[in-house]
Amino acid sequence: MSTNLQAFRASLLHLLDDPSIAGDEAVVWHEDGLLLVEDGHVAAFGAWDELAGGLPEGTAVEALPGRIIAPGFVDAHIHYPQTDVVAAWGARLLDWLASHTFPVEQAFEDRAHADAAAAFFLDELLRNGTTSALVFGTVHRTSVDALFEAALARNMRLIGGKVLMDRNAPPALCDTVASGRADSEALIRAWRGRGRLGYAVTPRFAVTSSDAQLAMAGELAAAHPDILVHTHMSENLEEIATVEGLFPEHGSYLGVYDRFGLVTPRSVFAHCVHTDAADLRRLAEAGASAAFCPSSNLMLGSGLFSLKQACACGTRVALGTDVGAGASFSLLHVMGEAYKVGQLQHEALDPLHAFYLATLAGARALRIEHRVGSLTPGREADFVVLDPAATPLLARRAAAARSLRDKLFALSILGDDRVVERTYLMGRLAHARDGAKD
Ligand code: GUN
Ligand code: ZN
Repeated sequence: MSTNLQAFRASLLHLLDDPSIAGDEAVVWHEDGLLLVEDGHVAAFGAWDELAGGLPEGTAVEALPGRIIAPGFVDAHIHYPQTDVVAAWGARLLDWLASHTFPVEQAFEDRAHADAAAAFFLDELLRNGTTSALVFGTVHRTSVDALFEAALARNMRLIGGKVLMDRNAPPALCDTVASGRADSEALIRAWRGRGRLGYAVTPRFAVTSSDAQLAMAGELAAAHPDILVHTHMSENLEEIATVEGLFPEHGSYLGVYDRFGLVTPRSVFAHCVHTDAADLRRLAEAGASAAFCPSSNLMLGSGLFSLKQACACGTRVALGTDVGAGASFSLLHVMGEAYKVGQLQHEALDPLHAFYLATLAGARALRIEHRVGSLTPGREADFVVLDPAATPLLARRAAAARSLRDKLFALSILGDDRVVERTYLMGRLAHARDGAKD
């Protein structure tokens, strides 16, 4: 018998496709299931009755009654340097950046500060069941070195990048076209192929990059087909007016990025709250993704993203916490916020669609769906053990649940890190709510 075989008996859930398109066929649920992990990869995922008989003799099975095993969550947009500005009162995007965000980002020039912040940030992701994320650093190269080193030590599948920003920001946070290119290339060279890491070329948004810097970012993306493009777009009306003033000749906000070769199948645009149907269709045609960040959009009063409209246009959508504008690291919480944003527009989000957005859709946006996002045999065994009865209220509500949808919905409205009993990375216990780790 392989010594690296792990067996877990629990309820199992994953999605194999977007259930709003593929229907309930896309949903795989085993009330009494068996997850087998061998050498950090999924070896089997199915009904206990069907699989238990085939277990090698003597295999120890960990029984997790009442628990749900699901793929780790994938956060399609988050900022690691902004942990300390979570829950800022009363601000909207541009003044929030100037008065809250830019001041804290300046400290990431210091490696020791960045190391401590990266360690806290990654542990908080794991506490919330997030096993992969697309992460903004700061303008400092050292911020990404710190993040990648900490992610490598934890063996997380994580994608990040150094911010490019050469105007309309404090001088201490500005790079240049040349230094932005050199630092990005140095990071790509230093980290490519190490552990489970990936790089994203990260112009902050069109407001803070010159034409020349956006063109350079497009050149980097074209020169390195394995990297992503990660930026913000159409989040706030004042921001959009500023972009129109800076780039009067480009037609639309997306048109600015398009002109510089930044709209690709590997591009993720955070927010897209005010993106019109023509631009949503252009995103769809390019195979680019929108990261829907409802907690952030509510906190900064940015507006209501219409998931229904984006889906009707064929745009790929995933979910982002957008910490620190977003107020929670929990994608369960963000699923609940997405539901409420939908309710304000008469679009009630199906709980299974929400669960897809927080798992496989995120993996698809980050182009890592062949490795994570579902628990199909062969995938890396990044998964969570969810406790639907984590609090007295959750326990009472779960007992009253009438269906899988209802159970998941209650988790998204009432749940957060308390529901995440354990988080595993490639079969290794990386977070345990009760503190025990292997
Ligand atoms: N647009 C440009 N930078 C940022 C940022 O840090 N957070 C958010 N929410 N929007 C941005
Ligand atoms: Zn953001």
